[in-house]
Amino acid sequence: MRSVEWTGQNRLRMIDQRRIPWDLVTVEYDDYREVAQAIFEMVVRGAPAIGVSAAFGMVLAAQQSRAANTGDLLGDLEAAAETLKQARPTAVNLAWAVDHMLVVGGGAAQNGVEGVRAALLGEAQRLADEDVATNKRMAAHGAALIRDGDTVLHHCNTGMLATVDYGTALGVIRMAHESGKRIHVLLDETRPRLQGSRLSAWECEQLGIPYDILPDTAAGHYMRRGEIDLVLFGADRVAANGDVVNKIGSYQIAVLAHENDIPCYSVFPTSTADLTMRSGDDIPIEERDKAEVLAPYGCAIVPETYCARNPAFDVTPAKYLTGLVTEQGIVRPPFDVNLAAVVRAGQGMA
Ligand code: MRU
Repeated sequence: MRSVEWTGQNRLRMIDQRRIPWDLVTVEYDDYREVAQAIFEMVVRGAPAIGVSAAFGMVLAAQQSRAANTGDLLGDLEAAAETLKQARPTAVNLAWAVDHMLVVGGGAAQNGVEGVRAALLGEAQRLADEDVATNKRMAAHGAALIRDGDTVLHHCNTGMLATVDYGTALGVIRMAHESGKRIHVLLDETRPRLQGSRLSAWECEQLGIPYDILPDTAAGHYMRRGEIDLVLFGADRVAANGDVVNKIGSYQIAVLAHENDIPCYSVFPTSTADLTMRSGDDIPIEERDKAEVLAPYGCAIVPETYCARNPAFDVTPAKYLTGLVTEQGIVRPPFDVNLAAVVRAGQGMA
């Protein structure tokens, strides 16, 4: 099963990640506006998964359009693209996928309205398949970093739920586990949305990977005691200088890893790099509703009138990272030179 997939009835089906680990249920959409809302509400989340969802959202927009000619259809697609891009601002995969679909639609315009629709569906399917293949290539590179007997600290959820299938950082862990290495994973619970305890632990349960959930505040304790060998997390957008924007809390564990001489890697497909951003400071950081902090999943911790802030991501400066794991291989410093080279290779421009 994929986290996101197209059905034979021309609908987009996705696992409802708000219900995991209690229920494994899917939802289906035939309206791109519902897809945008599902991305905003985090029915689907994780940079690659929302990118592919938005690509299928563009397919739905083309289906919904009443346009009689390709000019009008492309106009409708432009409007849908704006709605989808506004759903979440940080992960570059979303905007990239939507803009890419506009280019694909425009390129098929000479084939008429049905030709544009067919081209969009074919491309969204290709992006979904490519995501799975890319993750496996990335995992093969990253698994070499894990030794038999290692304990790995992981942040957020970067597994099959965050991608179409297999995962990024959790995909690396999965491949090491499947190759027979005896590994143990410490999963930051990742407040306030608890992607670590709800989603990554569920995935480890499915895969038989030994794990313990940690309060987010415990990572430094185990690092100082020498109980963590490696830190792995994903990325939502990576700047040209190698700064990594990822789930809130990534920065503090990278600093702690640096202080404790523990290797720390971010794992992401080259499509998550945004070389137009010179540093992480240029990347927009989503601030979400304070209700997610005050009452996670409706469980009130304090009165709803209390004050709170809720940044969804932070910037890990490149100097705290040992390397970047991509499908093109492991990038080492200097990242400002070496990242651009693998991104070009990933785009077939090497
Ligand atoms: O807010 P989320 O759950 O969408 O954030 C997800 C992350 O930060 C992941 O670590 C990132 O998307 C990489 S996962 C492939």
